[in-house]
Amino acid sequence: MKVSVIGGGTMGNGIAQVFAQHGHEVNLIDVKQEYLDRALGTIEKNLGRMVKKEKISQDDADATLKRLQPVIGLENAADSDLVIEAVFENYEVKKEIFTKLDEVCKPGAILASNTSSISLTRIAACTKRPESVIGMHFMNPVPIMKLVEIICGQATGDETLATVTQIAKDLHKVPVTVQDYPGFISNRVLLPMINEAAYCLMEGVADRDAIDTVMKLGMAHPMGPLTLADFIGLDVCLDIMNVLYEGFGDSKYRPCPLLRRMVDAGHLGRKSGKGFYDYE
Ligand SMILES: NC(=O)c1ccc[n+]([C@@H]2O[C@H](COP(=O)([O-])OP(=O)(O)OC[C@H]3O[C@@H](n4cnc5c(N)ncnc54)[C@H](O)[C@@H]3O)[C@@H](O)[C@H]2O)c1
Repeated sequence: MKVSVIGGGTMGNGIAQVFAQHGHEVNLIDVKQEYLDRALGTIEKNLGRMVKKEKISQDDADATLKRLQPVIGLENAADSDLVIEAVFENYEVKKEIFTKLDEVCKPGAILASNTSSISLTRIAACTKRPESVIGMHFMNPVPIMKLVEIICGQATGDETLATVTQIAKDLHKVPVTVQDYPGFISNRVLLPMINEAAYCLMEGVADRDAIDTVMKLGMAHPMGPLTLADFIGLDVCLDIMNVLYEGFGDSKYRPCPLLRRMVDAGHLGRKSGKGFYDYE
C-alpha cells in the first residue's frame, strides 16, 4: 500500500517510521527541506537505537529508510491509497490541506487525520468524499505507544472504518473505535484529570509533589498529572480544555484559571523550560 504522511513533526515522523517499518512505501511531505531533513534525522536516530538494542537488524533499518521518500508539496500524495495528515492542530490549516488533498488524491483513497481534538465531521466536510475521511489518532511516541484511537465522523463509511482498523492491526497497534465527540475518549478523560490537578494546586489542597505522588503511588499512574501536563505542553492542555468547554457547553470543563495564567506567562512546560516544574 502506498502511504503519504503530511507533516514531519513530532507525530508525522513517528507515523512515517512505523508504516515504513511494516513494509509500506511512504511519502513524507512537509513544506521545507530543513523540516524533512530533521524528520529523517529523527527517524534514523530512532532506528539506530533499535538496532543497538537488537530489536531490529541493520538491514531492517536500511530497508525502512529506503522506503521513505521525503518530498515537498501535497500533489505528491496523488497516487497514495492512504494519506495521514499530522500538521498543526489548527482547523484552518487542516481545512486547506484536506480541500487540496481531495482534489489531488485518487478516487477511493482514504484521507485520515491525526488530530487530537478537532471534529472529524468538520474536517470531512471540507471534502467531497466524507465517507473516506477518518481519524487515526496515534499516541506519542508513535513507534512505542500501542493505541490508535480511530474516530468516525458523521459520514465515515463502514468500509473506511474496516480498512483503517485492519491497517492499525497490521502495524501491531491496538485500534479502538470512538465516535466524533469533543476530545474523543483519550483527551475527554485525561484532560479533566489534569485540569482538576491544577485546581487542587491553585486551591492549596496540596503542593505539586503531593498531587503527583498521590496519582503515581495511589493510582499506579506512571507519572503524575502535573508532570504529564508539562510533557504535553500547558498551551496544548488549555486548548483541549477549551475544545471540551465549548463543545459540550458544560461548566464542568471550564479551564482552571491557574492553567490559563501559566500559559499567559509563557510557562508552557518542558518546551519552554518552565511549567509546574523547572527544566532549566
Ligand atoms: N505532539 C503530540 O503529543 C500529539 C499526540 C497526538 C496527536 N497529535 C496531533 O498530531 C498533529 C501534529 O502534531 P505534532 O505535535 O506532530 O506537530 P508539529 O508541530 O511537531 O509538526 C507539524 C508539522 O507539520 C508541518 N506542516 C505544517 N503545514 C504543512 C503543510 N501545509 N503541508 C505539509 N506540512 C505542513 C510543519 O512544518 C511541521 O513539521 C496535530 O493535529 C496534533 O494535535 C499530537
